[in-house]
Amino acid sequence: MPKLYSLFFLFFNLFSIIHASEIVCPSGFQLINQNKCLKLFSTNLKHLEAELTCTSYGGTLVNINNAIDNRAVSNLAASTSATSIWIGTFCFSSRDISTCYNDNGSGNLTYTNFAAGYPNVGEGYGGCVSMQTSGPTAGKWISAPCEVAGMPFVCEVPATVADPTCTHNYNGYCYTPSHEMPGSSPSASFFDAEKICFNGGSKMVSIHSKREIDYIREIYKDSEVTNQITLGAFSYDSDVFNWVDSSRWNFDYFDPLDMSFGDCLGMDLSEEPNSGMWTRVNCSTSNYFLCKRKITSTVPTKEAENLQGIPPNPDPFDFSHCNTTLYLAPGQITSLGYPISKPPAAYCTWKLATVGAYRLGIYFTDISVAKSVYIYDEYGNLLADPSGNLSPFKVLAPTNIMTITHDGSSGDHGFSATFLSY
Ligand SMILES: *[C@@H]1O[C@H](CO)[C@@H](O)[C@H](O)[C@H]1NC(C)=O
Ligand SMILES: *[C@@H]1O[C@H](CO)[C@@H](O)[C@H](O)[C@H]1NC(C)=O
Ligand SMILES: *[C@@H]1O[C@H](CO)[C@@H](O)[C@H](O)[C@H]1NC(C)=O
Ligand SMILES: *[C@@H]1O[C@H](CO)[C@@H](O)[C@H](O)[C@H]1NC(C)=O
Repeated sequence: MPKLYSLFFLFFNLFSIIHASEIVCPSGFQLINQNKCLKLFSTNLKHLEAELTCTSYGGTLVNINNAIDNRAVSNLAASTSATSIWIGTFCFSSRDISTCYNDNGSGNLTYTNFAAGYPNVGEGYGGCVSMQTSGPTAGKWISAPCEVAGMPFVCEVPATVADPTCTHNYNGYCYTPSHEMPGSSPSASFFDAEKICFNGGSKMVSIHSKREIDYIREIYKDSEVTNQITLGAFSYDSDVFNWVDSSRWNFDYFDPLDMSFGDCLGMDLSEEPNSGMWTRVNCSTSNYFLCKRKITSTVPTKEAENLQGIPPNPDPFDFSHCNTTLYLAPGQITSLGYPISKPPAAYCTWKLATVGAYRLGIYFTDISVAKSVYIYDEYGNLLADPSGNLSPFKVLAPTNIMTITHDGSSGDHGFSATFLSY
């Protein structure tokens, strides 16, 4: 047995040497399938706390996309004494896997391993999904109540490329915050920041997913150095932003309530639960900034960045999404006929949601209503019931689901609101 053990160790070490300049995982995470990094956390946490632990690494709970992933997670889970662990799948209805989504937000599941009778979002169960760790049903998935059950969990973060010179290494890129650069002032105007990054072999940061937002928030979390950084985005004409590193604009996280002007973008790094959002800033203003450098080109690019929502309303003149039963973030809803036509039947309900990894926030950008807009959490508790002519405001739901109802029959101006994961 000891011999076997040392043989294994030798093999393991050789393996890590061979891969030293290639794909690696953050410390404590294990490379699976050459494309993702997994780690078992054996503390018992409720689903939201488990997700918050994973997002602090720039990841989510594990996305199981095939039988190989399932076996890898099942093997990790076997070492815990708990009977089940959280995985990164969330279902909105019972016994209907077309309503289940992975935390990676890339649409319907391509692989499932539910035990018979699941998913079950009914009484005593819930939308969250766990994997059995032992016995004849080891590796099978069952539904569990998100806010009640505490259990161990497996986090997934993207693999990256080894670079011993890099402190903040994520998904194939090295991130250098301005306050960690020796010999230069931590704040600069956008144009000076561009030069400073360039001189260090980097570009100012571009952002391509919610995971990357979460990773960047974590870089600044404990340093308390700044509440905002300038991003590597610039607007040549008033409304269109481009990344200065020429990467594709395939994700955005604008603060829907932002009313400011400027041709540059700042990212909020305050203590707010929904921090990370982008606002317009003046390019001449001196601010902290973040440089980002690709480590090599060998890491496979990943992530479908945007969640697939329900198909758009077939009526091209109605953007209300009135009476949607499941509309996934990011998205926009309005009162029926907003802001022009006043329809006779104007009662609407909206069921809005995001994947299990995040919570849902709604941002009312324009609202003038005679009858209240009722905003409920997942369990039917009223979160807010605004009415009248109001300034823009937000409502943050405690979970990934909210329901909104509104009777617009009084023919007032109505409302428009954007909803986003936070
Ligand atoms: C998910 O699956 C359902 C039924 O199988 C289908 O109607 C729906 O369009 C799919 N959605 C996506 C985003 O693929
Ligand atoms: C996300 O999930 C889909 C299937 O649900 C899968 O095809 C895709 O590879 C996944 N992406 C990542 C980064 O895990
Ligand atoms: C940005 O700030 C500079 C100097 O502080 C000022 O001159 C300029 O007008 C501002 N630009 C905008 C668009 O506010
Ligand atoms: C939305 O659904 C409600 C309840 O089913 C119905 O009374 C209302 O007329 C519907 N609204 C529209 C605009 O179809």
